[in-house]
Amino acid sequence: MPIPSLKTYSNILLIGFMGSGKSYVGRALSKIAKMKFLDLDNEILRKSPIKSIQEIFDAQGEKYFRSLEKQTLLEILKNDRQIISLGGGTLFYIEKEDLELKDKLIIFLDSSYEECRKRVKRLDNRPLFKDEKMAKKLFDERYPKYTELADISIETKDLSGEEIALKISKIIC
Ligand code: S3P
Repeated sequence: MPIPSLKTYSNILLIGFMGSGKSYVGRALSKIAKMKFLDLDNEILRKSPIKSIQEIFDAQGEKYFRSLEKQTLLEILKNDRQIISLGGGTLFYIEKEDLELKDKLIIFLDSSYEECRKRVKRLDNRPLFKDEKMAKKLFDERYPKYTELADISIETKDLSGEEIALKISKIIC
């Protein structure tokens, strides 16, 4: 699919597995594209008295987290011209019809499981990365769906966050 100019889209959504660099790249891309950047996990926590995703999972469970995640994203999407890094699982728990995906550009940061594992330092916002065997299984399950959802897939291997952002900007800006 040819990628039309950035102006065509209301928002840019960055997707990919935990540790694929969505937040870092999103921040760097927002500077190049001169758009506002939002990290969905941070937005969820900003509105919550609880201070980590792990605590939300522990206190109220994953189902509750997913409802918070959906509610927060739908709220954010009322505004335009934003780059939003989603959680690794966000789009698997929201019906496509709820998101009206057609005017949003979805960019998949395509990293291998090993790259993601290497990049993930803090686990307090990533309860699903604690058990490595489960995390690898989740990665394998999700990978084909990320590619299916994406308008653009960007290979991240051996690139810094800035280099990935630059690569994206050359396609869309
Ligand atoms: C999740 C990814 C996390 C966070 C939560 C669940 C997932 O976000 O939303 O722990 O299901 O993959 P990041 O992808 O930003 O780490």
